[in-house]
Amino acid sequence: MKETDSLRIDSLGDWKRTHDCGSLRDNDVGQEALLMGWVNSRRDLGNLIFIDLRDREGITQAVFDPQEDEESHRRAHILRNEWVVAVKGKVAPRLQGQENPKLPTGAIELRVTELKIFNRTETPPFQVDGAVDASETLRLKYRYLELRRKKVFENFRRRHLITACIRDYVNRNGFIEVETPFLTKSTPEGARDYLVPSRVQKGYFYALPQSPQLFKQLLMVAGFDRYYQIVRCFRDEDLRADRQPEFTQVDMEMSFATEETIIGIIEGMMADLFQKVMGREITVPMPRLEYNDAMERFGTDRPDTRFGLEMQDITDLMGGSNFKVFKGVIESGGRVKAINTEKGSPLFSRKTLDELSQLVVSWGGKGLLFAKVTEDGWQSSLDKFFSKEAKAAVNQRMAASSGDLLLMVADKPKVVHQVLGMLRLEVAKRLNLIRSDDFSFVWITRFPLLEQNETEGRLEAVHHPFTAPLDEDIPLLHEHPEKVRARAYDIVLNGSEIGGGSVRIHNMGLQDEIFRILKISRQEADIKFGFFLEALKYGAPPHAGIALGFDRLVAILTGAESIREVIAFPKTQSASCPLTEAPSKVDSRQLEELGLSLIEG
Ligand code: AMO
Repeated sequence: MKETDSLRIDSLGDWKRTHDCGSLRDNDVGQEALLMGWVNSRRDLGNLIFIDLRDREGITQAVFDPQEDEESHRRAHILRNEWVVAVKGKVAPRLQGQENPKLPTGAIELRVTELKIFNRTETPPFQVDGAVDASETLRLKYRYLELRRKKVFENFRRRHLITACIRDYVNRNGFIEVETPFLTKSTPEGARDYLVPSRVQKGYFYALPQSPQLFKQLLMVAGFDRYYQIVRCFRDEDLRADRQPEFTQVDMEMSFATEETIIGIIEGMMADLFQKVMGREITVPMPRLEYNDAMERFGTDRPDTRFGLEMQDITDLMGGSNFKVFKGVIESGGRVKAINTEKGSPLFSRKTLDELSQLVVSWGGKGLLFAKVTEDGWQSSLDKFFSKEAKAAVNQRMAASSGDLLLMVADKPKVVHQVLGMLRLEVAKRLNLIRSDDFSFVWITRFPLLEQNETEGRLEAVHHPFTAPLDEDIPLLHEHPEKVRARAYDIVLNGSEIGGGSVRIHNMGLQDEIFRILKISRQEADIKFGFFLEALKYGAPPHAGIALGFDRLVAILTGAESIREVIAFPKTQSASCPLTEAPSKVDSRQLEELGLSLIEG
């Protein structure tokens, strides 16, 4: 045989796989098998050549022995990692002592009698299963190579299972899936829109939907009763580990439903999902917290409830001293709050406390005050400013005893909550209080309906302007709009907001009133969502809905650190795709056709 024969590229021909690379076991010994996949690694011992053949299901060892087949042994010399091959042969037990208990196929090997080489490869820019990892940009540029990794692939298998399980659940519960437009008008979710210019109507733009909010409500007016869609949403906002410019929602809407109906449906979905995908029972009904309580106890509306470290207000106990920091803060309407890191005194050195204090400053606080509780008082710079009684009262409120460490922050309420909320998480991480296999759900309810937009000096909707106020708070709409609570709810899992929704306004009169309070003129409302307001006049049923942030849910259920790990082709922090190099420039002819010109900047 000539050298060129070894280099030839074979065709698939009539070869068919008998097994995948993860399925052969010792009870298959003696059988003929035909496997296809990628060369994961190769060991050339001269006389014997071993390859680990890989596909998405696993790895099987194949052995080339000239005594079995001379030609395939000779060709196996040139095989390299990531070449695509097929091997035919007999399943044999591995030699004693050569078994690999870490591999499900580790008891056997395939003794190759025929080899086909389907493709060679350029040297990959990083090792597919390398111990040393490449930068994220490089991995995303060659994402298809990273996706070959078993661990990465398994995220997508699980994502698929979760999708299938959710579809099955909603289908069983009478929801029907309806697709809604991507080329549409701006939707009021509060982020910037991605715009798409129209060619046929120059100077006009579509907006990609931030969510199908208005369409799903229109489907309720249409009498569809129970809608769902696993749908892509587009938001031009600052990216973080749990935010992508395009992401997926499990979007739902129901007619003749209240918050209880929606919460019940979602709890059933989560119980089903956890049982079928994670093999775990979760407790339903899930705990609920009103927004104000969540803020008071955890400093955030998405509390991680896997651990305690709840904060307490000690403003009333701290006001009576000469300690300037507290005095000043309290006099200007601020508050003092604290968390008790139980038995934390010996665990936090002076150096660690300084580090935490710097973190507090970087989060926008003025600093961190601490007190190590001892039998005879506080080991703290605060000790001398407070009476024995004041300190005892604080200890009592914080349920603190000797050995505990109190961490205190004094500031405007908003800052205290933000900073102490973040500190709570930081401390829990440092003390290893968070178990990664723990899943803790909580519903946050009764959000404020409206909030002050500081820069524009006007009220705006916290959720969106179609969210209904609590019936009992409607009388407050005019005098104290900021006190009105919404019939809105978020579902939080392990400190991540995995979904949110609300009961909607279905009555035009109330909707008009909300617009008046939001200072959205009738004309402005008509321009923005006149089509929707029109629909409310034609028999809109009472309705409510929710959208789950599907990528976040999958990330938690796969243990991923960022939603990028569970999105096949994600974008980087700067919303670009290193693989396709999107976004990219377009040529001047395309711009002309769209009636656009660029301002050079
Ligand atoms: P909301 O804006 O709260 O509600 O979005 C619902 C859920 O979507 C997820 N999410 C995101 N995930 C990844 N990247 C993003 N940029 C991103 N933004 C939001 C969150 C969030 O809880 N129309 C309403 C729902 C309704 O009222 O029915 C809506 O879109 O997990």
